[in-house]
Amino acid sequence: MATVIAVANQKGGVGKTTTTLNLGFTLAHVGKRVLLVDMDPQGNLTAGAGAAGKCPSTVADALLDRSKPLPVAAVDGAFAGRLAVVPASLALATAEAALLNRLGREFRLRDQLQTVEQDYDYVLIDTPPSLGVLTINALVAAKYVLIPTEARFFSLEGLRMLQESVEEVKYLNPRLQVLGIIVSKYDRRLKEERTVSNYLRRTWGELVMKTEVGTNSKILEAASGGMSIFEIDGGERAVETYESLTGEVLARG
Ligand SMILES: Nc1ncnc2c1ncn2[C@@H]1O[C@H](COP(=O)(O)OP(=O)(O)OP(=O)(O)O)[C@@H](O)[C@H]1O
Ligand SMILES: [Mg+2]
Repeated sequence: MATVIAVANQKGGVGKTTTTLNLGFTLAHVGKRVLLVDMDPQGNLTAGAGAAGKCPSTVADALLDRSKPLPVAAVDGAFAGRLAVVPASLALATAEAALLNRLGREFRLRDQLQTVEQDYDYVLIDTPPSLGVLTINALVAAKYVLIPTEARFFSLEGLRMLQESVEEVKYLNPRLQVLGIIVSKYDRRLKEERTVSNYLRRTWGELVMKTEVGTNSKILEAASGGMSIFEIDGGERAVETYESLTGEVLARG
């Protein structure tokens, strides 16, 4: 049975997709079989994994019609055979609205994943910057939630709201646990970031991952070029960071 991890934070641009993608690449790099699931109509995970347009159907089709199989696109290259993606496109935005009238709308992803998860060690689900039905589907399907956050004061309120949502989702998925909080896009030169990072560690203790993901242009370049951090020139520091983060994830879940 795969370990299913949702990566969530309703605040936008905090590094959800980057975390999902690079954790996925790194888990595949250490030999795990990984399925990445894109639950964001923006489709950034799909593009970042180089899977845009590879499948005729997307996750939206399988959420709306339970008789349709979950579309899975293999990722070629270095991780061939160990990494695959369930793609999303803008159609997921329309599907989200349509789902609101469907029975069992919160359980659609969980039920679809149950048919494929025996083929993987880890399933990582990227979510949109909202607490709507798509994010709820991810949290209901998952055993763990991983929360990337920026070390900014405005991010703290978002964290509190997400924690409330996790508590509420436990009504539908009692086994859901927070795997960890990741300080991402961290710039230790900024006093605000150092202060908030210290505050996070004091408040959330061990839940905050030891590995901080610093601001790193190679992480940005790799994602926008549809490449992994393992393939990009000068990506060694990014690789080291994600290897360390992956080590913590493996130790926790
Ligand atoms: N450590 C980093 N260093 C530099 N750039 C980064 C880093 N992490 C993420 N980024 C860049 O910041 C932007 C936002 O990151 P990302 O897309 O992962 O956030 P997100 O939470 O998924 O956003 P959204 O809420 O829109 O889905 C992207 O352009 C990404 O490439
Ligand atoms: Mg994203």
